[in-house]
Amino acid sequence: MSLTPSAHIHARKLVELLGSWRGVQRPSSRSLSTAVRQLALDGRLPPGTRLPAERELADALGVSRTLVARMLDRLREEGFVASRRGAGSWVKLPEGGRANEAHGGWFPTADNEVLNLAHATPDAPTELCAATDRARLRFAEQLSGHGYQPHGLPALRERIAERYTKRGLPTGPEQILVTNGAQHAFALVLRMLVSPGERVLVEHPTYPNALEAIRGLNTMPVAVPMVDDGWDLELLTANLRQTSPRLAYLIPDFHNPTGIRLDAEGRARLGRALARTCTTAVIDETLVDIDLTDEEPPPPMAVFTDRAILVGSASKSFWGGLRLGWIRATEEFVQRTVVGRAALDLGSPILEQLVLAELLRDADQVLQRRRAELIERRDHLMAALREHLPHWSFRVPDGGLSLWCDVGAPVSSQLSVAAEQRGVRVAPGARFSVHGSLERWMRLPYTLPGDQLAEAIRRLAAATAAVHGTPGPSLLTAPIA
Ligand SMILES: Cc1ncc(COP(=O)(O)O)c(C=O)c1O
Repeated sequence: MSLTPSAHIHARKLVELLGSWRGVQRPSSRSLSTAVRQLALDGRLPPGTRLPAERELADALGVSRTLVARMLDRLREEGFVASRRGAGSWVKLPEGGRANEAHGGWFPTADNEVLNLAHATPDAPTELCAATDRARLRFAEQLSGHGYQPHGLPALRERIAERYTKRGLPTGPEQILVTNGAQHAFALVLRMLVSPGERVLVEHPTYPNALEAIRGLNTMPVAVPMVDDGWDLELLTANLRQTSPRLAYLIPDFHNPTGIRLDAEGRARLGRALARTCTTAVIDETLVDIDLTDEEPPPPMAVFTDRAILVGSASKSFWGGLRLGWIRATEEFVQRTVVGRAALDLGSPILEQLVLAELLRDADQVLQRRRAELIERRDHLMAALREHLPHWSFRVPDGGLSLWCDVGAPVSSQLSVAAEQRGVRVAPGARFSVHGSLERWMRLPYTLPGDQLAEAIRRLAAATAAVHGTPGPSLLTAPIA
């Protein structure tokens, strides 16, 4: 496939993505080409990306121009770079590969044998079919109207509002805006509140598609690191004060990827910090129902501050294929967002909304079974890891759908490529990072059945052995970026 260059990557940005490429050894064209190839393979340098000029890149990296030229020669030979006089050099992928939709990378294997641990998302509950049958009967009532409901179907808005009220947050249906998933909901709120060049504070690590939305609007993520047991609220508050973000995007309910939940006391502190700094926060509650503890859940963040806009989803509690989520905010914000929404879409499909409204009647039953199954699978995954990768460490998550594993060395991207070659697809830590760092971490979901999880970990152990057996560039010994 012949590709012409599209996006240009600035030398400074490329240096940031390359992170710890040089490690403790003398910089070489080999280690540099390995690191650039890695970025192309895992999708952080998409095909068509135009690379900086040799001299510009050499200056930014603090290496000789010859070293950069040799790096480009190597990558051209391997099929990862193409160049044309006058047009410069750009990233490409060798013939015969295919795009990996899970994390934008490229892998040379066929798909049928791949165990997919890149998505943390469960399959549909059995109740979905019965809910669809009931919804079909109600569908006829809708057909005499025009079918456009930009706020969402009244029956569904009511049911979503009732669930908030039950969780201790009195809510009316006029405070709910139904969207096409939580990602859509967040993108809508971003468009409403943030202008290009403004800052959005995020946890680090965070949900990768939220970062995509932030970058896509040319707004700037400000990353606040998570600590072992969750949020460093002092640090978060200091960042709110010092960086004055226009918005914060936070996941206090089984944070993706770490699975940690912020307790009531933490929520109260966070609420006070948001109020003091006049910062609005989007609170992503996508995973709130995937509670794997037997503790009393803390109330929603909006109980603690009126600066919280809540975003919810049917994807993890029920099924991603419904493509439904919602915003819970003031009626005034909902009305404004409905007007703003018209530039993008004119509402969500009616039949799916009817199905979700029906499914919410069975919510307790569906979620009880889902939690029991996920606890079993989580335990299965942890046992397989302890057997096959005993040097990996992780914290048992309170909820959510994945383990956040410390793989012991900054090799997560390398490992994900080696794993794909052995039939396991995984998301490396860098996908959850603002700067392409977090190479010491890997997210492993426990949404597949136990036998598949066990097989995936066996293959991952083989990939780990291969990566450590071929140290190649300094990446193995490099400090974490
Ligand atoms: C934290 C978080 N937010 C949002 C989403 C996207 O949800 P939806 O499918 O509703 O768009 C996900 C899905 O993985 C998620 O984990």
